[in-house]
Amino acid sequence: MAVWVRNRGGGWAQVGVAAYALYFLSFLLISWQLLSGLDSDGHGHGLGLGTSGSSVFHSPEEAFRLDYETMEEELKVFVYPDGDPDTYFHTARKLTGKYASEGYFFKNIRESPFLTHDPLRAHLFFLPISCHKMRAKGLSDQRIIDEVDKYVHHLKFKYPYWNRTLGADHFFVTCHHIGVKATKGVPHLIKNSIRVVCSSSYADHDYIPHKDVTLPQVQLPFSHPPGGNDIKNRNTLAFWAGRSDSRLKHDLIAMWDNDTELDIQNNRIDLRATGQLVYMDKLYKSKFCLCPNGPIGTSRIADSIHFGCIPVIMSNYYDMPFNDILDWSKFSVVLKETDVYQLKDILRSISEKHVITLNQNIVKIQRHFKWNTPPVRLDAFHMVMYELWLRRHLIRYAIVYGAMRVLCYCSQYVSLTNNVIMMLVLRERKMKDV
Ligand SMILES: *[C@@H]1O[C@H](CO)[C@@H](O)[C@H](O)[C@H]1NC(C)=O
Ligand SMILES: *[C@@H]1O[C@H](CO)[C@@H](O)[C@H](O)[C@H]1NC(C)=O
Repeated sequence: MAVWVRNRGGGWAQVGVAAYALYFLSFLLISWQLLSGLDSDGHGHGLGLGTSGSSVFHSPEEAFRLDYETMEEELKVFVYPDGDPDTYFHTARKLTGKYASEGYFFKNIRESPFLTHDPLRAHLFFLPISCHKMRAKGLSDQRIIDEVDKYVHHLKFKYPYWNRTLGADHFFVTCHHIGVKATKGVPHLIKNSIRVVCSSSYADHDYIPHKDVTLPQVQLPFSHPPGGNDIKNRNTLAFWAGRSDSRLKHDLIAMWDNDTELDIQNNRIDLRATGQLVYMDKLYKSKFCLCPNGPIGTSRIADSIHFGCIPVIMSNYYDMPFNDILDWSKFSVVLKETDVYQLKDILRSISEKHVITLNQNIVKIQRHFKWNTPPVRLDAFHMVMYELWLRRHLIRYAIVYGAMRVLCYCSQYVSLTNNVIMMLVLRERKMKDV
């Protein structure tokens, strides 16, 4: 733990020691209260996360719950005002179609308690840049890049917040690859800011998992109720239908096109008219749904989850949504691309018992992939907010004597939270050992 003390006057050192002692005492007190509180009333405080025995989370659920609830109470986001109303699109985009998650986020943030009008209270700053309207107006890619550059440049001069961290506590949200491309004119938007994007596969070379966030891509609306915990109704081993737009999909079709157990179709099912019913029916009746890597983003994973079909992610690199919170091995199958050649053997070798568990666990995580308006606790919007909470920056740069210096205010708070989580982890381990 680092307490930064300016030592020149001598007096500062004493203040530092006193502050340290006070901090340590408060840490002991808070940890004691937390642990004894948990002992007396056990698990679950209304989040309904289920029992820890079949956890779909990485960390002990108590640790997640505590940090999530702190996020709900404390996280504040400042939304920058709109730019030129002619080019920017800062209000909700339509809430249907392939890019619905982007529209939901823009709408949800403004109807949520995370919004603050006081930038001094904000942990994070949202740059509302959505490129659909500019595209619809026929602006060239370069014009879109220039417009975004102009908007961010304007905010840098008008407000002091960007310069404090060079954009590290700023984020933007886009589900379309055009929105990713549009930020190319501002290198710090790529290198420093948090990018909340749908396309997190290796096709996007700038995606950095610990900094950026995967926005779950969903094709809305779902006109049929969710599935899951219904393995007895699923008679097809695995299903996929689509166009061959990647090497992997080409191999998938070449290998399994005429297979009798794997339902692989070399054409996209048109989701308009009756196609939708055909598609849904397949998702309800298959044990596994294949999600092969392709050049553009996909809503297939969210479709599978909604209909209770175990997603089989076939990609050498894809950062799954909420990958650092949810344990994907508990409700999906993650394969390498070369596994396509042994696909049937691999899926058949998964025990009946494990298939049932995966199918049951989908029910537990469905709500994290659901968008609502207004947003509800633990839904897709809140999970994205929690990802942002995990990435909030507590450092500030200040110009001192012409040089950059990092001020560590708040760093004690971070280590305090981490220590409490560590204690919970240790406590959980100890209980398992007994
Ligand atoms: C932010 O830094 C730039 C130099 O990089 C400077 O021109 C601009 O005025 C600064 N903004 C504010 C609000 O001070
Ligand atoms: C599947 O069947 C069609 C028609 O019989 C045939 O043209 C095609 O080559 C077959 N594909 C494979 C992978 O065997």
